[in-house]
Amino acid sequence: MTDLDHRPPASRTVGPPLLPDSIGAVAVQPDFLAGAPYKVPATRYTSPEFARLENERLWPTVWQYACTVDHVAAPGDAFECRLGMLSAVVVRDHDGRLQAFQNVCRHRGNTLCAGHQRGLSELRCPYHRWAWDLQGRLHEVPSRRGFGALDPAGLGLVPVAVDSFGPLVFVNFDPGAPPLAEWLEGIPADSEWVGLDQFRCVATATTAVPCNWKVVADGFSETYHIQGIHQEMLASIDDVHAPQRIWDRHSVSYQPYGVPSPRLGRDVDPQAVWASFRAVMGERTGPGSEDHSPPPVPEGATVQDVIADRIKAAQASAGVDLERFTTEGILRLAQYNLFPNATLLVWADMVNLLVARPGPTADTGELVSCVFARMPDPGSERRPPLDLVRPPEADFGLVLNADVSVLLTMQRGLSQPGFEEVVLSAEECRIVNFHRNLERQLGLLAEGG
Ligand code: FES
Ligand SMILES: [Fe+2]
Repeated sequence: MTDLDHRPPASRTVGPPLLPDSIGAVAVQPDFLAGAPYKVPATRYTSPEFARLENERLWPTVWQYACTVDHVAAPGDAFECRLGMLSAVVVRDHDGRLQAFQNVCRHRGNTLCAGHQRGLSELRCPYHRWAWDLQGRLHEVPSRRGFGALDPAGLGLVPVAVDSFGPLVFVNFDPGAPPLAEWLEGIPADSEWVGLDQFRCVATATTAVPCNWKVVADGFSETYHIQGIHQEMLASIDDVHAPQRIWDRHSVSYQPYGVPSPRLGRDVDPQAVWASFRAVMGERTGPGSEDHSPPPVPEGATVQDVIADRIKAAQASAGVDLERFTTEGILRLAQYNLFPNATLLVWADMVNLLVARPGPTADTGELVSCVFARMPDPGSERRPPLDLVRPPEADFGLVLNADVSVLLTMQRGLSQPGFEEVVLSAEECRIVNFHRNLERQLGLLAEGG
C-alpha cells in the first residue's frame, strides 16, 4: 500500500498536476547534454567584460522581479527597485493601475524616487522640484519661463513595461518586450492549483554577497547539493525522485517532502522523517510540535499524512482552510526557476522568492529573499511588508544559512587561474538551460542553437 491509497476522493481535493511520463524522472537528459558533461567557462562568473555584456544585453531586455504587489497595493504607493545598474520606480496610479518608469528626472538626470513611499499624489524630483503625475506626465516646472518653449509632452517620465503574476510585480526596460504572461511560458498554468493570488508578502531581506549573481542563481537551480550541504534534510525529502521540467527559458523541480531520500536506504524510521522535517521546516507544523518525537501514525496512514495534517491544523488555527489539498499537494515543493534570476518556491501553505541580482562588479551580487503567507480569503487586505537589509552572517534559518555559506566561498574558487570550466551533469539541467538562455540573450549563440 502506498500514500496514494490514503488520499481522500479526488473530487474533494486538490493536488499538483500530474506530469507526463516523459519528464517524470530526475535525470531529464536534455538533448543539449549529448551524453557528456556540459561545460561553462569560469570567466563567465569573474570577467568584467562579461558583466558589461550582461549590463548591455541582458538586464535591459528581460522581465525581472521588481517588488511585490503588497508594496504597491494602494493608489499613491511607489517602490524604487534597484536592478543592478538599472533603477525603476513602480507606482500604483489613481486609477488603480500599475505604472513603472525609469527612475530618472527629465531635467538634469537626478534619481527621482528612493525607497518605498505611500500616499503620493505626484512624483517630484527633490533637486529642482520638477513634478509628474502618477501616470508620468510632467505637470510642474518651477520658474518655467526660463526654459523658453518647453514642451511638457516630450518630457514625460520614460515608461517601463510592468505587470504582475500572483503577488509578484515584474518590469521590463525593453519597450518591445513580449507580454509578461507570454514570457512566463507554462508557469502560471502549472501553479494555478495553488492560488498564488491568495498569498501576501510578509517580509523581504536584501543581502549583499561577495559573489557573482549567477553563483546565487545556480545554487537555487539544483537539488544535487542536498546530499552535500543539507544532509539534515535527507530524512524528509526525496531528492532523487524529484522530477524536473524545462519549458524554454524557465524550468521547475518538484520535490516531495515528508518522505526519506533513497540515499538513506529502505528502512528509515518515521521518527527520523518527523525529526528531519521539524528541523528543516518545523514552523509549518505549528506550535505544540516542538519536540522531535513523532505523533502517532494512525493505522493505514503514513508519517507524510501526519505531517500534512499538522500543517493543515496549523493553517486552520490562522483561519486558512487547506482541507481541499491532498497530502502530496501539501508536501510537494514546486521550485520554479524564472529566467534569468528568480526562484519561486511554492508549497500549498507557503511561498518564498529568492532573487539574484548583480552587484557593482562582476564578483559581487545581491540576494533578495521574500516570504509570503497564505491568507484566509482572496480579498484579504494587503499591507506593506517588512523590508530588511541583512548581512550574509545573519541567521536565515538552517537551510538557507548553508546556501549562503557557499556564496561566501565560491567566488575565490572560481577566480583561481587553473580553474577554467564549470562541469554540469544532467541532474543540473536547469543550470544548463539557464546558461543556454543566457548565451542566447547575449547573442553568443547562433539562432536555433
Ligand atoms: S534634476 Fe530633477 S529637477 Fe533638476
Ligand atoms: Fe540549498
